[in-house]
Amino acid sequence: MTTSHQHPPALGTENPQPPVPTASEVEDMSVEERARLAGILDDVDVVHNQRKWPIPGTRAEKRAERAVALWFVISAVSGLAFLAAFLFWPYEYVAPGEPGYTLYTLYTPIVGFTFGLAVLALGIGVIAYIKKFFPDEVSVQQRHDGASDDVARLTVTAQLVKAGQDTSIARRKLIIRAAGGAAGVLGLGLGIAAVAPLVRNPWKGGDNAALWVTGWKPVNGETVYLRRDTGDPHEVSLVRPEDQAPGSMETVFPFREADREDEEALIAGLRGSDTPVMLIRLRPDQQVVQRAGHENFHYGDYYAYSKICTHLGCPTSLYESQTNRILCPCHQTQFLATEYARPVFGPGTRPLPQLPITVNDEGYLVATGDFAEPVGPAFWERRYNP
Ligand code: FES
Repeated sequence: MTTSHQHPPALGTENPQPPVPTASEVEDMSVEERARLAGILDDVDVVHNQRKWPIPGTRAEKRAERAVALWFVISAVSGLAFLAAFLFWPYEYVAPGEPGYTLYTLYTPIVGFTFGLAVLALGIGVIAYIKKFFPDEVSVQQRHDGASDDVARLTVTAQLVKAGQDTSIARRKLIIRAAGGAAGVLGLGLGIAAVAPLVRNPWKGGDNAALWVTGWKPVNGETVYLRRDTGDPHEVSLVRPEDQAPGSMETVFPFREADREDEEALIAGLRGSDTPVMLIRLRPDQQVVQRAGHENFHYGDYYAYSKICTHLGCPTSLYESQTNRILCPCHQTQFLATEYARPVFGPGTRPLPQLPITVNDEGYLVATGDFAEPVGPAFWERRYNP
């Protein structure tokens, strides 16, 4: 028995193609001729092609056009609503029961809904346009190896122009304008959303800018107490030295008497991203190394360190009393509580800032000042003021 490989016939031998014209001949052709030539050269066999609206200007066609445009108009209006909500809706925190609370709680749903609707309507508009105006076409194309030649590449442009003509996009001014408006508004919204957070000046307030100071900074000479979070912002639980056992840690927050009736200030003290502090009571007789200039930041065995990791800002909540290590669970940086919370393992490179504390006449632990340096991860302009 003999075997032989069955080679497919060389491209073009089944349906002989006309001679390939030169580039200058192609340049003299009309768009239709070039598009037809492109199909032939690509071995595309158009089996069926029927325009959706062979008679232009019918009422049904205009209805279809309006239906498509309507989706783009919805998208544009939603995009504008998103922009307006993003820029002007009251977004700042309002406590439950306070005037404006409902508006504040609606900020995220409104921004999400208008943005989602803008994207959805834009997508539906594109799909509706394709369904209603693209011609019904069935084409079969043979596969080719390698890159196309010069003539093929020249004719591709004509094919695209022809496709534009077939889909009648050039004369659908209503759809073009509506789609352009929708895409423009959406693009503008996305651009503003991306840039807006950068517009706020982080250094507003000079030396009292938010990056330099925390909720522990004394205001008008008022005492700043250490308080616990009991779950109820109104229940103020202050901390006394005898409350804590040796070798233990407790998270504390700032409290001023002036804030007692001010719910917003009470919540801000407990929820501020830079206010949590670990109050650690070391076991007795621990060898402690003080940081230069911080020698009187502690009170007896009590040391208070910022809970915000200096690596990337996670809460460093795990205190291991036998080794005196504070562990950040995010990337496992370990800080040594007996050596001014300097990092001894992991990616963190700076000690946790230490809060200066003492005990006042009433026997409560209080802060004697703010941190000597910014808390949390580093930033370009960061400075240290011992
Ligand atoms: S954030 Fe703490 S180790 Fe990375």
